[in-house]
Amino acid sequence: MESLQTPEILDYRNENGQGWSFYKHDGVLRAFHTTPEADMEMIRNVQKIELRDDDVFIAAYPKCGTHWLWEIVTMLRAGNSEYNKKSKDIAMLGKPKFQRADELPSPRVLNSHLYFRQLPEKLVEKRIKTIFIMRNPKDVSVSYFNHAKGLKGIYNFDGTYSEYLDLFLEGKVPGGGYADYVKDWQKVKQDNPDLPILTLFYENLKKDPVKNIKTVAEFIGESVTDELCEQIADACSFKKLKVADAEVKEDLVHPTDMIYRKGEVGDWKNWITVAQNERFDDVIDRNLEGTGIVFTYE
Ligand code: A3P
Repeated sequence: MESLQTPEILDYRNENGQGWSFYKHDGVLRAFHTTPEADMEMIRNVQKIELRDDDVFIAAYPKCGTHWLWEIVTMLRAGNSEYNKKSKDIAMLGKPKFQRADELPSPRVLNSHLYFRQLPEKLVEKRIKTIFIMRNPKDVSVSYFNHAKGLKGIYNFDGTYSEYLDLFLEGKVPGGGYADYVKDWQKVKQDNPDLPILTLFYENLKKDPVKNIKTVAEFIGESVTDELCEQIADACSFKKLKVADAEVKEDLVHPTDMIYRKGEVGDWKNWITVAQNERFDDVIDRNLEGTGIVFTYE
């Protein structure tokens, strides 16, 4: 039974006041924009969502390419390379912008940064096709820092990258620890062999979008032509998606520049010092030991 006690607030801020307040939800560190109670209520509602057999679900830690993949899957589902006028946020579990799930037309491309145990209970039972995308943690940290800093009104963070990095490496950022999230999905895979999960890497999608789009199409059961995959790869290139985001979307939650910032592999080299890089490797190696996950950094 869920505890009715008021959750403990954990205030992780540095001496400059940069950082966040968290509470623990089922072992997961959660930053909250409202109150822990409202956040828990939101998660309870997400868990109760009815799923449909033809739903596709995208799981990603923040800044791993969720928007990009959502556009790709949405086009594959539609069978064309036209931009959807809605943004992925209408189908994002755990976001205030999320429309009532039952009002979203099929086929739905649901997506979320929530942990597996916070997601709809029917995910496994209905064997919902799930795509899990990862990105190298150094680029994630840079992308996330810029996101948080750019959306000051939401994230309330005004520190330097260095200050952000200290928090990121300790998992004290909204979304919790990157390694924890990634390891959790590995465990989900092991514990739920009946749940169809396709794992993708941002860097591979960037290197060979057509090949990866074909893999996604096959996984979600769409028989598509090579030509369509090429068209989707082109329409979803960083440059084109950025323009489309600004010009086509009717319901933008964040300014386009916040989401479509640089879209490259290896931007971390412009941000991370040699000493920070050593510390980064050390922490990541330790936290991901035994997982067999190998990231591409350039
Ligand atoms: P950067 O901040 O490094 O540019 P998310 O959608 O999960 O919030 O991830 C956002 C990151 O994905 C941003 O990274 C963004 O630029 C990148 N991205 C979005 N579309 C992309 C595309 N078509 N190609 C490459 N990167 C893309």
